[in-house]
Amino acid sequence: MIKFDFNTYTKKFIEEKEYNKLIEKKDYYTELLTKDNMTGWMKDIDNKLIEDIKNTGTYIKKNFDCLVVIGIGGSFLGSYSFNNIFKRYFNDKKFEVIYAGTTLSSKFLNELLEYLNNKNFCVNVISKSGATMETTITYKLIKDLIKRKYGEEANNHIIVTTDKEKGLLREEVNENGFKSFEIPKDIGGRYSFMTPAHLLPLSVNYDIDEIIKGYYHGRRLIDYAYQYAVVRKLLFDKKKYIENYCIYEENLLSFTEWLKQLFGETEGKNNKGIFPVSTLNTRDLHSLGQFIQEGNKILFETYIKIKESDNYIKYNNRTLHEINNIVEDSVLRAHVKGGVPCIEIELDNITPYNISSLIYFFQLSAAFSGYLFEVYPFDQPGVEVYKEEVKNSLQG
Ligand code: PA5
Repeated sequence: MIKFDFNTYTKKFIEEKEYNKLIEKKDYYTELLTKDNMTGWMKDIDNKLIEDIKNTGTYIKKNFDCLVVIGIGGSFLGSYSFNNIFKRYFNDKKFEVIYAGTTLSSKFLNELLEYLNNKNFCVNVISKSGATMETTITYKLIKDLIKRKYGEEANNHIIVTTDKEKGLLREEVNENGFKSFEIPKDIGGRYSFMTPAHLLPLSVNYDIDEIIKGYYHGRRLIDYAYQYAVVRKLLFDKKKYIENYCIYEENLLSFTEWLKQLFGETEGKNNKGIFPVSTLNTRDLHSLGQFIQEGNKILFETYIKIKESDNYIKYNNRTLHEINNIVEDSVLRAHVKGGVPCIEIELDNITPYNISSLIYFFQLSAAFSGYLFEVYPFDQPGVEVYKEEVKNSLQG
């Protein structure tokens, strides 16, 4: 179960009249959303596709020791953050999944290639466009290793997730007969959690039926998703230009990376949008906490709170989790007193079902938010600007 509190700690910053005025427009924006042709992520996923994903996950586990996922941005953050939430901090016994494609660091790639040389591995390269530089370079380096290591068997070690028809990756699939999956045309990268781009890497370690159920449950959260978008927009109008996602569980850190990408790429256009950041507490109470409490009042916070923990540790007359939550509540109140509006989202527990529901909730909210900011939620034209610069520099 997920509980939301958008109002208690924001109401003194927002006028009721303004709030009600935007809330009344919910049906208008919902209609806009449902008519948009980039909302394939709101539809049901095909049952045959689910079976194919599960069978491929089983094939990977049966034949290899390790899966290398290559992708960047929306083509990796969903499954990457999900994996990080549910893996053990120490001595994790799950099937090994390595993420690559997010860096051009020679040190990282050199060490990865060395490591893979002694592993029996396969690769899942994920790129909707099939043209993303970081993904292309990493894939080429790993594919060369696969060819050297496995010779004629190389094709069985490559699984491609890309557009149905277009792009270099699709051409490769057609030439070599690699196993492949599609990222539907009507789903953009950061909205692609409910596609093979994320479900295949997750299928090797998780019950994807549970993930799908949780995601569908997220549909019931549409009113909350709209309210969250409205409150954020009204805070922005009060010059609260930064949203700080506050977490008190370290395994949620990469979930905040996913959030940053989702909201940053969705809203940050036409000189508008809220800049998303995150703090991991209590660690960051000893760094950014000072700024949040007493510094420039340009931000608001969204707390992702976890009510219960499966890990029971007693400390004096309380559990450690209770103490963590008492600290969280106290910090929230201190920040509100310091002039920082706060939003609270509380999960009863961290489960695949809840996280998946939350993913749908945030996707919906980000899409609404795009409309409220009067920017198109499903493109990212600014990303092309740096790509063009890089292309020119590499050619020069
Ligand atoms: O959300 C998005 O659309 C982007 O972040 C893309 O996912 C990212 O740029 C990677 O693109 P591609 O899947 O084409 O390699």
